[in-house]
Amino acid sequence: MDKDFTHIFQEIPFLGQLAEITQAIGTEAYLVGGFVRDLLLGRAGKDIDIVCVGSGVDFALKVAEKLDKDISVTTYRNFGTAMFRYEEWTLEFVGARKESYDRHSRKPAVENGTLQDDQNRRDFTINALAISLNKQDLGTLIDPFGGLEDLRKKIIQTPLNPDITFSDDPLRMMRAIRFATKLNFDIAPDTFEAIIRNKERIQIVSQERITDELNKIILADTPSYGFKLLFHSGLLHYIFPEMVELQGVEAVGDKKHKDNFYHTLQVLDNLSEKTQDLWLRWAAILHDIAKPATKRFDEKIGWTFHGHDEKGAKMVPHIFRKLKLPMGENMRLVQKLVRLHLRPIALVKDNITDSALRRLLFEAGNDLEALMMLCRADITSKDHQKVKKYLANFDKVEQRLKEIEEKDRLRSFQPVITGELIMQTFGLKPCKEVGIIKAEVREAILDGAIPNELPQAFEFMLEVGRKHGLQPLKEEN
Ligand code: CTP
Repeated sequence: MDKDFTHIFQEIPFLGQLAEITQAIGTEAYLVGGFVRDLLLGRAGKDIDIVCVGSGVDFALKVAEKLDKDISVTTYRNFGTAMFRYEEWTLEFVGARKESYDRHSRKPAVENGTLQDDQNRRDFTINALAISLNKQDLGTLIDPFGGLEDLRKKIIQTPLNPDITFSDDPLRMMRAIRFATKLNFDIAPDTFEAIIRNKERIQIVSQERITDELNKIILADTPSYGFKLLFHSGLLHYIFPEMVELQGVEAVGDKKHKDNFYHTLQVLDNLSEKTQDLWLRWAAILHDIAKPATKRFDEKIGWTFHGHDEKGAKMVPHIFRKLKLPMGENMRLVQKLVRLHLRPIALVKDNITDSALRRLLFEAGNDLEALMMLCRADITSKDHQKVKKYLANFDKVEQRLKEIEEKDRLRSFQPVITGELIMQTFGLKPCKEVGIIKAEVREAILDGAIPNELPQAFEFMLEVGRKHGLQPLKEEN
């Protein structure tokens, strides 16, 4: 196997500069970790991991000084690490360590070590590769665990006994699945079996770190692969039990419902072909989350999941809170998409009124495209003809929505009649009547009884007010 990587110093001149500086300083140092992995995969990043024998902080300060005196170096003396940015690069330095962990905490007991010690304590063979920056063996790949071979064979495995590697830092179980998913690699059988054995140790890891890995899995090209690994390893039962609930098929006589776990994964993959947006992907994951809670069997119609859209929307904030996902606008978007995900399907019928379409436009607002994307992804029949037919139906719905949108501009529907205007017109303070009038005007617009335009809507508001025994302060606007 070719272990000479001197060519990288010509291909990426900054690495050449780094090697020269390292040699001038005289510290033993290596490129390592994710940077080397990605470099060998032909997708070199801009984050460079460097390990040196001795103090990582002192070495970082010396390198920065030689590159540019004005660089500000962030140092973490407690951890023996330092980092700085230079041009488009982010450099992270660490002193080679020999680590042993206390089984009951994640706090490692750290001692200075050799390069070999440092490679031993890394998570996977493909992350334990180092390339020398030193004079005597510049460009040599130091690969004690066959990481290069594993990159070629597309395998994730731990350098040492996987039970020790995972027990040292249980987050690595999720990292194994994340790398397998991102890189489309297999997890070696003994490594995977160790994940199964150690799964409950995930509970000592902070939710933030778990969710960070989960989001990276979700952002892979085929996220279903990661979820299947999470499910089969048993990790999913600890980190996201609501999703596990979706799995399974129940039958009464010959009436079965589909497996909602695999359906959800298919929807997620379908949607992931169209968008990189994490939150739309979360909407796909959660769109049917309330199916287990709403499942009923009806003798006449078979299995039903009535209200799973509304109930699912209610579950979204709880799940976000538990997973420590941000509770703001993105959560509300996911919630809205879960709530509305059945609506466009209901509009596929031929005799649908403009008013039903108008209501959807109004409720979906600027998230209509996202909603339609989710609905299209939600078609997971194995029958291609059926899929084609359903998609064509959605084209029709979208066309009609477009026409109504052009006519009524409902998407940016800020009701021309605001609460302010109602209060001003009738000389009211905030009260129940203001809400009633506002709702009546909005309903009339959505029903198509009046256009969403000021003169007509204002006139209608006056009428509604009078009906409720209110007189305008002055007749004209
Ligand atoms: N590492 C580890 N165990 C962890 C985290 C990291 O052994 N729990 C080691 C791995 O050798 C890894 C390196 O530290 O390659 C850098 O970690 P990190 O920056 O988190 O990941 P990368 O491998 O660089 O990958 P990415 O940047 O894609 O997350």
